[in-house]
Amino acid sequence: MSFDIGRVRAAYPALRDGHAYLDGAAGTQVPVPVIEAIAEAYRRGLGNVGGAFPASARSSEIVAEARQAVADLVGGAAEGVVFGPSATALTYRISSALAKSWVPGDEVVVSRLDHDSNIRPWVQAAERAGAVVRWAEVDAATGELPAAQYEALIGARTRVVAVTAASNVLGTRPDLAAISAFARAVGALCYVDGVHATPHVPVDVAALGADFYATSAYKWSGPHVGTVIAAPALLETLHPDKLAPSPDTVPDRFERGTLPFADLAGVTAAVDHLAGLAPGAAGGTRRERVLASMTVVEEYEAALFSHLLGGLAGMSHVTVYGKAARRAPTAFFTLTGLTPRAVAESLAARGINVWSGNNYALELCRALGLEPGGAVRAGLVHYNDDSDVDRLLTAVADLA
Ligand SMILES: Cc1ncc(COP(=O)(O)O)c(C=O)c1O
Repeated sequence: MSFDIGRVRAAYPALRDGHAYLDGAAGTQVPVPVIEAIAEAYRRGLGNVGGAFPASARSSEIVAEARQAVADLVGGAAEGVVFGPSATALTYRISSALAKSWVPGDEVVVSRLDHDSNIRPWVQAAERAGAVVRWAEVDAATGELPAAQYEALIGARTRVVAVTAASNVLGTRPDLAAISAFARAVGALCYVDGVHATPHVPVDVAALGADFYATSAYKWSGPHVGTVIAAPALLETLHPDKLAPSPDTVPDRFERGTLPFADLAGVTAAVDHLAGLAPGAAGGTRRERVLASMTVVEEYEAALFSHLLGGLAGMSHVTVYGKAARRAPTAFFTLTGLTPRAVAESLAARGINVWSGNNYALELCRALGLEPGGAVRAGLVHYNDDSDVDRLLTAVADLA
């Protein structure tokens, strides 16, 4: 198995501008094959789907290929892959569709660890339906979301458990298999936000117990397209608001208006890119290559993350938040005497891209006592290397 970081970085033209791109948690850069796939779709000519001419057939083919690509990335059936503008938009769509059958006294469980896109749509849907919202809490000292608390939170009236596969600020990866088992035991559905986890680990929605799994291609080297995957039979039971003439089949009935066909060509190219990150890791199907490749990516990123955390731990003016046992490689920290925004601006002046603020993990930042202002977030992805981390550590040390 090989992970050639030089070869990987060379595929990303944006990295040549000399910046240390430690902002991947907010959106990754895009490699040449993805850029080319999008350009090529436009070059060849596209039409809306359902037409009698070849350009229309090409768009239908692009959509079908992209559904299969997402199914290969996270597991599941291509017929259960729904596309939309963003994970947020799709979570609103699915929560609204699910909530149509809720009655007063039904319950939904959300977590304080989540990005607001997997909290507020459920809270608002619950308000409309008269349903009760229950909150899973984070252990502020460790950043863990203890799975055991779900036993008491989930009951006969629970309809949905919404929980993240990884925190977008602390990196915490909760024990989803345990949490979803509690949900399954009472017949509740588990809606998993996989936006932050997907770029970092091999994903198998069945093993996670996710009835719905949301992810966004722009976090894994693709274009700005969101997607949710679910069993087609489950989608068949839901009837989202839709236009009268638009298809009533699954998954199309969850997709409002015209899809971004060229971008979907980029989604397929992004999955192919991920599948090829560790050539020789495995032969066989694209699904097998994705799993093998992401296993190598996880190991590579873990080593880089240790380097980053080790460096930050040695600095007395730095406070690092979260130390969960299983984490995506995302560091969240503050510096004594400087606002997170001031730190981000100083780093930007040195060509280092990081984020500051709550990054929409609003409930979590409140629970950690970090509101307002949040903290600094440095998120590693597979195209980062030791030089990116060293630049950050040197610059942070200089801010003492
Ligand atoms: C964990 C997590 N969930 C959801 C989202 C929202 O994704 P989208 O921008 O596709 O709506 C983000 C975006 O940063 C995220 O990090």
